[in-house]
Amino acid sequence: MAIAVLDTRAMLWHIGYVSVGEGEWNSQRLAELEAQAAKNNVSDSITGLLVFDGTHFFQYLEGDKEKVEALYSRIEADDRHSSVTMLSSGEVSSQLFARWAMKLFLPEDFNMDDRLHILDLLSQKHEKESIPQILGALTIRNEQPIN
Ligand SMILES: Cc1cc2nc3c(=O)[nH]c(=O)nc-3n(C[C@H](O)[C@H](O)[C@H](O)COP(=O)(O)O)c2cc1C
Repeated sequence: MAIAVLDTRAMLWHIGYVSVGEGEWNSQRLAELEAQAAKNNVSDSITGLLVFDGTHFFQYLEGDKEKVEALYSRIEADDRHSSVTMLSSGEVSSQLFARWAMKLFLPEDFNMDDRLHILDLLSQKHEKESIPQILGALTIRNEQPIN
């Protein structure tokens, strides 16, 4: 008889949050943050994206539940940003951004329609409903990377 082998230890989890950047964020500081995040996330098999609109961060993290939650605790305690507010968390069936250890998006990465939409979502509507809309605008770019 065939035996189905299921790995029940690892649960695929996501967390989406918004926060407010502290201090000046120039391209060098952002690049350092992206590099630090990508390096750690590769070793933890965490993927996702980070959007910065000049004031707010939006980040979507996905991977093993324990690792994602541990990372979120570190991120929450990071004084490079404040008002860290979780918008969404829960089990997911697949990693939407499997190719990105942590991909940083800036407003200029979006076309004008998406840009206005995303800035609006990030700056005004810190609501759970924002998540699918932001992800909807970005999933296209996951399939067709900008770089
Ligand atoms: C907006 C923001 C996003 C971050 N995203 C990540 C991330 O995806 N992965 C990560 O390891 N650290 C991220 N960090 C950094 C963590 O808060 C923390 O500094 C880091 O994980 C510490 O690990 P290290 O000292 O071993 O590099 C982020 C920090 C900020 C402010």
